[in-house]
Amino acid sequence: MKALLQDTYGTSDVLRLDEIARPEPGPGEVLVRIAAASINAADWHIMRGEPRIARLMDRSMFGRKGPREPVRGRDFAGTIEVVGPGVTGWRVGDQVLGEDDATLAEFAVVPHACLARKPEALSFEDAAALPLAAGTADLCLTRGEVAAGHHVLVIGASGGVGTFAVQLAAVRGAIVTGVCRTRNIDLVTSLGAKEVIDYTRDDFTRTGTSYDVVVDLVGNRRLRDLRRIVAPGGRLVLSGGGNPGEGRFVGPIGLMAKGWALRTPPRPARADPHGHAGCGAAHRARRDGRARRDPRRDRPHLSARGRRRRAAAPRGRTRPRQDRRHDLSSGATGAQRGSS
Ligand SMILES: NC(=O)c1ccc[n+]([C@@H]2O[C@H](COP(=O)([O-])OP(=O)(O)OC[C@H]3O[C@@H](n4cnc5c(N)ncnc54)[C@H](OP(=O)(O)O)[C@@H]3O)[C@@H](O)[C@H]2O)c1
Repeated sequence: MKALLQDTYGTSDVLRLDEIARPEPGPGEVLVRIAAASINAADWHIMRGEPRIARLMDRSMFGRKGPREPVRGRDFAGTIEVVGPGVTGWRVGDQVLGEDDATLAEFAVVPHACLARKPEALSFEDAAALPLAAGTADLCLTRGEVAAGHHVLVIGASGGVGTFAVQLAAVRGAIVTGVCRTRNIDLVTSLGAKEVIDYTRDDFTRTGTSYDVVVDLVGNRRLRDLRRIVAPGGRLVLSGGGNPGEGRFVGPIGLMAKGWALRTPPRPARADPHGHAGCGAAHRARRDGRARRDPRRDRPHLSARGRRRRAAAPRGRTRPRQDRRHDLSSGATGAQRGSS
């Protein structure tokens, strides 16, 4: 089958279209005939291996010279071609969409937990644009606990994730303000934003307005600037991966690390609504025995200090930093409550 591969990190010049063997589904997996696949910021990060610190942080995805999975692509829509052993609920011919690895190819092997049924009314192309971007947007709003009447600021409102975030927040009954550049103001307004701030003209952190929920999908502002625009009791959700050309080595990781250090554990019983658990490179690495499960990752939302405190605490939920000025909880990459 044909697939888009890369052997080393780099720009799109390192990609090549080549023939490789068609993969076979293992237990719990299906083979999908790919009809459409979309490109996300994540594909760009993985292709370039940037920010570079990510290569050290996720060894299941990032190898030393190139991505562990040589075939690019994550989001897909297509038709089930083969059902692997132990898979129930799916049949050959089912039309599906989802997010996994190696989807810029004619076929991809996907764990059945990573599949969703494609609605008939949706084209394969539209379906393939949904999983990562819309899933991230929905997760950010959920972590921000966006509800009717909330004033929500979406930074990066014109992007892949932001366009979904604006629409989904508006559907939840929130009053949305979007941040984008001049040429995208009409687009963001058409998606349901009541107000749009042009970041090339105005600094949205210095307008004097604060918001119940701030969703940052860019990651190029200082934490202290972002906290200033979160209303008392409000939430800040950090999910930006940084802009191309800015921060090749650390990128937005510094911002996220500060956000993580300040947060408290998330609300209990928060299942991933998109069934992402068990998908992607980490799933394959564990399945193939390439990576041992890191017990520290069982509680990825806790800092090292938080994990120590949780281990030392009596059974039950702990809220390590409740006594401080902020009530924090994790988001797509981190969320925090505003100070009073
Ligand atoms: N944590 C997660 O799970 C997750 C998942 C997916 C994506 N992400 C991250 O989220 C980010 C957004 O992803 P995406 O797919 O939406 O990317 P995208 O389609 O490339 O959108 C980028 C957005 O950033 C805005 N932007 C660019 N420079 C800006 C600046 N200086 N100030 C304010 N806004 C600026 C753009 O606005 P204009 O075009 O109007 O300039 C656009 O809205 C990426 O960094 C990605 O890595 C995180």
